[in-house]
Amino acid sequence: MRILAIETSCDETAAAIIEAKPGHKKIKVLSSVVSSSLKLHAKTGGIIPEVAARQQIKYIIPVIEQAIIEMGSKKWESGNRSGKLEDNIDAIAITIGPGLIGSLLIGVETAKTLAFAWNKPIIPVNHLLAHVYANFIENLTPNPYALNPKITFPFIGLIVSGGHTDLLLFKSHKNYKWLGGTRDDAAGEALDKIARILGLSYPGGPEIEKRALKGNAKAFNFPRPMIDSEDFDFSFSGLKTAVLREVQTMKQLSNETISDLCASVQQAIVDVLVKKTIRAAKLFNISTIVLGGGVTANEYLRSQFLLNARRYLPDVSIFFPDKKYTTDNAAMIATTAFFQYKEIPWSKITANPELYFD
Ligand code: KG4
Ligand code: ZN
Repeated sequence: MRILAIETSCDETAAAIIEAKPGHKKIKVLSSVVSSSLKLHAKTGGIIPEVAARQQIKYIIPVIEQAIIEMGSKKWESGNRSGKLEDNIDAIAITIGPGLIGSLLIGVETAKTLAFAWNKPIIPVNHLLAHVYANFIENLTPNPYALNPKITFPFIGLIVSGGHTDLLLFKSHKNYKWLGGTRDDAAGEALDKIARILGLSYPGGPEIEKRALKGNAKAFNFPRPMIDSEDFDFSFSGLKTAVLREVQTMKQLSNETISDLCASVQQAIVDVLVKKTIRAAKLFNISTIVLGGGVTANEYLRSQFLLNARRYLPDVSIFFPDKKYTTDNAAMIATTAFFQYKEIPWSKITANPELYFD
């Protein structure tokens, strides 16, 4: 089966086509196109929803067209869009939330139009789940973090993106339980806001990772919010305030101090994520941990998960998506649609910016 997916929840306009056969555990990506309006948002130090939505309108059709061409459609490449292309696509997957309403609507209405015109089933997808499902995409490089190369149920899923930090217990594809999430800022959001305080560019996560390489993670002892709480909730806004207070006491910020601040902040966030995830795996006696979301592109986070799992849970296998599938993309949306296949009549599909877990 071939699925065309569209993702427009925030500042990326993405389309992808995947191929999967029932019974297959991994998904083959035939094409994956992402157009990001990140550079525009870097100018304003953060996303302005109206600007993001306008960019979605501009790129949605060219991005879908490019995904079809990259799938190998010679006809479309030569500009001839007549004929039977739609017969190569069995279903359309669409991100319905969570996200920015203006951005979501553009993808949702486009997907509905295609489903109607081509008479194809449409499958709504939760963007957060998709960050976990990015791990089910065929990975051509072996996973150095896994003892067992296949993801097996039950597993603990940790989503660490710009807008969310959530822990889930997956018993099967359709049976999962939310364990906890952030009460205020998500980890990625905290990194972005702290970067802004330090005068670094947007998005903050990659900048902080780069600067942290030259810094001392013990230079500042920042709070590890909720690290020992009994629940599986998170809170990162206090960390942001602690950094702001620290910076306000300084006469000037040297490059060396910025590097130390970045390393210390990164360490504080990683410590909390690692400790709570390992605690969940222990409590539920789970031997597979699956991570996803933009922040999991971070190499230091990956190495700390590996190190601590080896130390405290020697039998555990850890999975991260291929780097290109950690941040927003449509291949992960198509993959989720395949495993969570649920057709909905196109007229009943609506964007839901507040969508969370069932
Ligand atoms: O998953 P994502 O692309 O978008 C959302 O669904 O929110 O995540 C974006 C977030 C941003 O906060 C960005 O700063 C962070 O992921 N990020 C990183 C890295 N790359 C992106 N954080 C830490 N280290 C990175 N290398
Ligand atoms: Zn995302």
